[in-house]
Amino acid sequence: MAELPDITVWQGDITTLAVDAIVNAANRSLLGGGGVDGAIHRAAGPGLLEECRGIGGCPTGEARITAGHLLPARHVIHAVGPVWQGGDQGEDELLASAYRSSLRLALRHGLSTIAFPAISTGIYGFPPERAAGIAVNSIQNNGLGLAITLVAFDPRTALILEGALA
Ligand code: AR6
Repeated sequence: MAELPDITVWQGDITTLAVDAIVNAANRSLLGGGGVDGAIHRAAGPGLLEECRGIGGCPTGEARITAGHLLPARHVIHAVGPVWQGGDQGEDELLASAYRSSLRLALRHGLSTIAFPAISTGIYGFPPERAAGIAVNSIQNNGLGLAITLVAFDPRTALILEGALA
């Protein structure tokens, strides 16, 4: 039987996790913003923004890796999810691609523990149930060998993620 990745759902603030990498729900500029992006930059300190400036942005559906700076996590993987536009603008595939790109980066850097927020489901407006299904699918097929935490900031998202995993 093929080995499945180890996936758990955890509710709380992703910036507190001492994992190899936390994933940021970033925008294409990689220069910070609100939501989890703002929380990560505040906790990581100004060194993170400086490192991000040197990257020069990231297309939707891709990801870039930096150090964790003042975070307990060693790295931040900045993934750019799609803005929800009704579902017929390739949003599903772009969201799956943001998860897969993050996992590829983690594996390429020899990381073994990674935590994801619910990418695109806040400011970007992606329906959370649909996003959870895409997250779990993308991870199950691409996260072999990794211990993955799906982080919910609120109880409702935790239930949705648990439902998608079951
Ligand atoms: N820990 C874990 N999850 C969190 C945290 C936290 N500290 N804070 C928020 N969330 P969002 P998006 C959850 O809006 O929809 C930014 O301005 C939140 O409850 O952070 O991908 C970027 O710069 C939700 O479930 O990201 C982009 O411009 C999830 O994280 C834009 O927002 C994602 O919500 C990206 O929007």
